[in-house]
Amino acid sequence: MKAVNTPRAYGWVARFFHWTVAVLILAAIAIGLYAGGLPQGGQSQMEAIFAAYSVHKTLGMVALILVALRLLWTLTQTKPRPLHPQRRLENLAAEVMHGALWIGMIVMPLSGWLLHSAAPGGFARILWPFGQRLPFIPEDAALSGRFADFHEAGWWLLAGLVVLHVAGALKHAIIDRDGAMSRMAGNPDRAPEPPSAMTGIMSHVLAAVAACTIWVGAAFLPGGSPVQENAPTIAVLPQDPGTSGWIVEQGVLNIEVTQAGNAVTGQFDQWQADIAYDPENRSGRVTVIVDIASLTLGAVGDAAKGPDFLNAATHPTARFEADILPPAAQGEPHVAHGLLTIAGQTVEADLPFELTLEGNLARATGRMGVDRRDFAIGANYTDESTVGFSVVIGFDLTANRQ
Ligand code: HEM
Ligand code: HEM
Repeated sequence: MKAVNTPRAYGWVARFFHWTVAVLILAAIAIGLYAGGLPQGGQSQMEAIFAAYSVHKTLGMVALILVALRLLWTLTQTKPRPLHPQRRLENLAAEVMHGALWIGMIVMPLSGWLLHSAAPGGFARILWPFGQRLPFIPEDAALSGRFADFHEAGWWLLAGLVVLHVAGALKHAIIDRDGAMSRMAGNPDRAPEPPSAMTGIMSHVLAAVAACTIWVGAAFLPGGSPVQENAPTIAVLPQDPGTSGWIVEQGVLNIEVTQAGNAVTGQFDQWQADIAYDPENRSGRVTVIVDIASLTLGAVGDAAKGPDFLNAATHPTARFEADILPPAAQGEPHVAHGLLTIAGQTVEADLPFELTLEGNLARATGRMGVDRRDFAIGANYTDESTVGFSVVIGFDLTANRQ
């Protein structure tokens, strides 16, 4: 068999690339789904998830390298001519499909590498001696999350394209029996000689535009795991007499942790806030009490509330008692400075937040990062690559002045 393509069939180099990349991509999808479905929680379960993701990432990276080499090779090759030049729509559909598969073969592993590279803290490693992170990609949980959304929407699209592509190949083999399969599999000498025909440049342009449009659509599809947005139940503590009290109307209190290099976001559904704030001197006091048992945190909520981490049974509430300090300068946020108690350990903490006042209505939103080791949370998880040390606590609330 010839190494190079002929107008009749693909050569062995193109075939080698086609079939190895096909197997790698199908294996990456299967192992990615398997890894995502593994039970989470204990150390040994985490190690199994890590091992599966490492294999997934490594297969994906090998696919990416092969696709890059394949692209260079393909650019030097003639494409076998259409078997049925008169079936213009079918040829166009096949060309769109091949173009979209090409884009998918590139953007899927690339988005995986980008999400891996932007993931803060540790992660399941790509099993290779080269670096893990890409230059110019900052460690940023939100950025990693956006690539993850694309990666999760993208695999559905790629899998759908592969199903259509294989269905098309089977139609040629079973219904048309026109020997199209022999062009990529089997004896190239048995591939029929296609009639010579010119394919218009416009149909190539149309196919390329359609293939790109399909993938641009994937960028706007929502990702796999939506953050739960349950309405929180808020019970407000008695107000501090003598200061101007604010009643929280609605709000969200969430946390973001990094597990196996992936950001996991969750929220507390029950918490109480006692806020006293004087808009004149822009200062006040706040006490927040959080019911630990009300935490939802993806698939790891139970483990997070268990004895290794927040230990809700022994320490049912967390508490933040702080003075609200005015902004240090114009344009700077307010800061709630005080004591944060989680899992029985008390630590000094600063929570910067933006405050907008409109009459008697206030909207406040802020975030702070804490280190779980300061609270002896997850003390047995000393390796940041399993459970990240940094935990982001964020809130967004509106309150009414009484
Ligand atoms: C596993 C079942 C598969 C079968 C039976 C199959 C079959 C074929 C056949 C017969 C052709 C030649 C079409 C022609 O004559 O022009 C072809 C081409 C092609 N296939 Fe597949 N394929 C499979 C999987 C995949 C997968 C998983 C991908 C990528 C994700 C893929 C990407 C392509 C591309 C891009 C071409 C165009 C040729 C090229 O540019 O190299 N195929 N396939
Ligand atoms: C051949 C290309 C690839 C395909 C087809 C693919 C496909 C998948 C699939 C199907 C999932 C599971 C999604 C889910 O559970 O909803 C997944 C998850 C994931 N993949 Fe890939 N992947 C590829 C390459 C890569 C590469 C090269 C990396 C990193 C270097 C990577 C990193 C990840 C990560 C970190 C996740 C978990 C994402 C999350 O939990 O949000 N993937 N991938």
